[in-house]
Amino acid sequence: MDHLINPRLAQVDLLIQKTLRSPTRPLQEMVDHLLSGNGKKIRPMLVLLTGALFDLNGPSLQNADLIKTAASVELIHTASLVHDDIIDGADQRRGSVTLHKRWDTLSAALLGDYLLSMAFKLLSNCERSSILLPLMGRSVELLCRGETMQIDKSYDCSISEQEYYRCNYLKTSQFLAACCEAGGISSVAFPLPFEQSKALREYGFNLGQAFQIVDDILDFYDQTGRLGKPVWVDFNRGVITLPLICLLRKSGRFRALLEAVYCCQGVVSPHLKEQLKQASRECGALEYSIRRAEQAKLLALRSLNAMPQTPVRSIMFKIAESVTARIADIR
Ligand code: IPE
Ligand code: IPE
Ligand code: MG
Ligand code: MG
Repeated sequence: MDHLINPRLAQVDLLIQKTLRSPTRPLQEMVDHLLSGNGKKIRPMLVLLTGALFDLNGPSLQNADLIKTAASVELIHTASLVHDDIIDGADQRRGSVTLHKRWDTLSAALLGDYLLSMAFKLLSNCERSSILLPLMGRSVELLCRGETMQIDKSYDCSISEQEYYRCNYLKTSQFLAACCEAGGISSVAFPLPFEQSKALREYGFNLGQAFQIVDDILDFYDQTGRLGKPVWVDFNRGVITLPLICLLRKSGRFRALLEAVYCCQGVVSPHLKEQLKQASRECGALEYSIRRAEQAKLLALRSLNAMPQTPVRSIMFKIAESVTARIADIR
């Protein structure tokens, strides 16, 4: 089935390279560094797939606006990562050193802005730009609100599970939902019946929830380097994610320990980190988090039932399965 999607993803990559080509040398050097790292490309894949799903005259995936939209969401996502790495003080991304470490914060911040402007330039060249631009504009607004909420809630040991999901929605799942909606908008079958466009958004939303929970679990438990980014990054910045929220709910002792360190934004010792990891496993906090990720994945799979049974739908099944497969060996 990869033969359906890979050639289109290659077109997306080419368009990104072409779009970012710059006569300004420092800018081009940063772009080259950025493009040398490979992401999973989930968001452009979602645009391509949802854009082809209802194209029942044989899914062509050929539509040029789909390629532009897919390139644009990857640029928006990459911009959010460049900015996020500055915020998180992360030194690795996609297996390479981050831009702000290799260059400096100012240049990296500007590069993020450049990527965003190019994303919107691409969208403005699409036939349905009057629908796509406000959709993606709103999505970027929510992304920024998510990062702001996360900063606001960091070092707060009383963050609730609901607040955590809200943050995930703003940071991740609303964007994946918007990618699916954008695919539907760029599709030859546009406008889709309400039920189908709702199902597309639900698929993206639930996939996003599962995806972010899995990413957060791996921030603690990844031992394989599969993330392409170091572990404990969120935790070291006081970002309290689902496994820890569950542990702190169950254990007054760990809550008091962590509060004592966090009250002066101090560094958590490797010993306490190991204890937190082990306690989360023993008290069921890890298991609970894995189950929440699996539930979200099942909801994503369920929304696919409303879609036509095509090879494209099978790929969307596989993508949802692959999200939780990343933590299959963690129990
Ligand atoms: C990273 O997204 C940010 C999160 C929402 C967890 P991805 O894991 O999709 O990043 P890349 O594009 O594959 O590097
Ligand atoms: C992802 O947040 C950034 C955005 C979605 C804007 P995280 O901080 O959780 O992601 P990683 O762990 O750096 O990839
Ligand atoms: Mg980060
Ligand atoms: Mg972050």
